[in-house]
Amino acid sequence: MTDFQARLTPDFDLSARNSLALKARSRFGLGITDAAWLPELFASAADLSLPVRILGGGSNVVLAPAYDGITAIMALAGRNIIEQNAAGILVEAQAGETWHDFVAWTVGQGLGGIENLAGIPGTVGAAPVQNIGAYGAELADHFVSLRAYDRHTGQRRDFSRADCAFAYRDSIFKRQPDRYIVLSIRLLLPAHWTPNLNFAGLADLADSGALTPEQVMARVLALRGAKLPDWRVNPNAGSFFQNPIVPPAQAAPILAEFPSAPNFPQADGRLKLSAGWLIEKSGLKGFRLGPVGMSDRHALVVVNHGGAEQGDVAALSAHVKATVQQRFGVQLHEEPIFL
Ligand code: EPU
Repeated sequence: MTDFQARLTPDFDLSARNSLALKARSRFGLGITDAAWLPELFASAADLSLPVRILGGGSNVVLAPAYDGITAIMALAGRNIIEQNAAGILVEAQAGETWHDFVAWTVGQGLGGIENLAGIPGTVGAAPVQNIGAYGAELADHFVSLRAYDRHTGQRRDFSRADCAFAYRDSIFKRQPDRYIVLSIRLLLPAHWTPNLNFAGLADLADSGALTPEQVMARVLALRGAKLPDWRVNPNAGSFFQNPIVPPAQAAPILAEFPSAPNFPQADGRLKLSAGWLIEKSGLKGFRLGPVGMSDRHALVVVNHGGAEQGDVAALSAHVKATVQQRFGVQLHEEPIFL
């Protein structure tokens, strides 16, 4: 056994490392606290003929009960102001930082820009993978660049915003899941902040006079707390399905039946519908199947009521998809990644 292999923890328990609290173990586990370990990690894995998967905060994954490989937990730490100029404040965070702590750190210094994204579970490194978004904002809005490890070449590579090909809950990293490992990200926070109050629940803040990023963050956290079940209390992975984006002809019968159904026109002419609304109107809010169910607080959230495994979540997901397809003719797609 090499020195590096001695660092691997055998029969690694991941039940407390995924926000759905699914029963999950890995043949080996390892915390990555130094990016320089990555080449050794992949060399060791090749030696042992084992696959490697990378986990961040475990808040957007549906883990298998047993993984016959190495689960590497991204634990690179650090956040800094790189440079301050007329364009704004360039900040950098390492992939293992908790996303919300990073947001609170910027806001704590009076820096605005990402306060609408407060309270999103998970790590900095996972944020670009699905271009996290909430309350009228998304990561791409203030994103400048990131550094990633390319598993194909064994080299580090920098990605500009355009290179990342961000879209709604999507990026090049999500489309090529086994290739890149995000190491750090850089954001440019505006020198002259203006609050983004486009989301309905934030609009009234415009009347509060001189608003601070801190006040907007407090409202966002209050909105999240009121709507979404807390994964620490009711284990979940946030939104379980993406909001479907459909051609107008597919939305027409739904809007004819329910003129007030939430719908958001996209730049390409299609309409984004609300998956939570479709699930609730299909009669599945609070629906339970075995140890899992759709939350009775927010129909888009799958909750583990205790003792669930990946298969339970897959069965519930299949039932919800089939029911919504039958009722509304709309195909839902899972948001979390099955690993
Ligand atoms: N709705 C229902 N029933 C429900 C839940 C929602 O009818 O049980 C309706 C609401 O009344 C509203 C519409 O659905 O008209 C949209 O609901 P909401 O404002 O809660 O937002 P969402 O589209 O369900 C998205 C993100 C969330 C993000 C919120 C707030 C996706 C898939 N989800 O949810 O992101 O926090 O907006 O901006 O885009 C996540 O990705 O994990 C996540 C939580």
